[in-house]
Amino acid sequence: MTKKRILSGMRPTGRLHIGHLVGALENWVALQDTYENYHLIADYHALTTNPDSRGIEEHSLDMLVDWLAAGIDPAKSPVFRQSQIKEHTELHLLFSMLITSARLERNPTVKDQVRDLHIENISYGHLGYPVLQAADILLYKGEVVPVGEDQVPHVEITREIARRFNTQYGRVFPEPEAKLTKFARLPGLDGSMKMSKSAGNTILLSDSPEEIAKRVKTAVTDPEKKRRGDPGRPEICLIFTYHQKFNAAETPSIDADCRTGALGCVDCKLRVAERIAAHLAPIRLRRAHFEAHPEEVKQVLHAGEAKAKLVATETMREVHASMGLG
Ligand code: TRP
Repeated sequence: MTKKRILSGMRPTGRLHIGHLVGALENWVALQDTYENYHLIADYHALTTNPDSRGIEEHSLDMLVDWLAAGIDPAKSPVFRQSQIKEHTELHLLFSMLITSARLERNPTVKDQVRDLHIENISYGHLGYPVLQAADILLYKGEVVPVGEDQVPHVEITREIARRFNTQYGRVFPEPEAKLTKFARLPGLDGSMKMSKSAGNTILLSDSPEEIAKRVKTAVTDPEKKRRGDPGRPEICLIFTYHQKFNAAETPSIDADCRTGALGCVDCKLRVAERIAAHLAPIRLRRAHFEAHPEEVKQVLHAGEAKAKLVATETMREVHASMGLG
């Protein structure tokens, strides 16, 4: 049986944090044997919210180091930069005729970005963010898109565009589905819904055990549990969410001891910091290898780009044929 194809990607924002690991990377790694995976570094997408392109290549390579450290095997899963496969731009243009600007203005993820980044007048390219993403996915005929839940509206737009194209010109594209992880979202250390680099509420994959402990100490916990002995409410505590992810075996006793007050927040944090550090230990080791061998990382990228190019060329041949574009 042929394997279904996965297409997923991230914007190159530099070093990744445990939110990326839990929300996406672990899922990619877990799926790389059962699916045929393609992973894209969305460097064009990075320009939608910040047209300053300085450092973009470096950020892309830094992110790739984290991907490889997390266990992406490039022999199974080609990795490539969007900007190196020109077919993305052409498919984006063709797709842009198949969706209304009103539909794009309703996209909640773009709306959130506009609000969070205080953008007064959205650029044409930023509004078209999901159209470019649809081109990313459909150029490789991605059927499954493992992403965090904030990306679901983009995948919905991708499905609409695929349907529209197929009806208008003949069937070329699948209708891809989003595939969420159990922990699609890890709260930030400051108690906000999400880890994000700009909020500075993250733990990086490259952080040492000492840095992790220091970062975890700053986390907010149940405000009514001021000292050991006070009963706490694990269900509202982000540290408890981290225990659920990184220390599953001990969660029942942590839950009970937090509620009775026997466990204080300081100890509880130390314990989770140790578990996170243990979880990241093999990643840190692999990370050190790739950091010391930048040529190997570039080689992996170029090989991935050559493979991606073959698929992209073939899809565009079909697109041209079905549209009668010669
Ligand atoms: N929008 C995604 C994010 O911000 C990145 C991305 C670009 C993507 N193209 C994609 C994700 C295609 C999945 C499929 O994380």
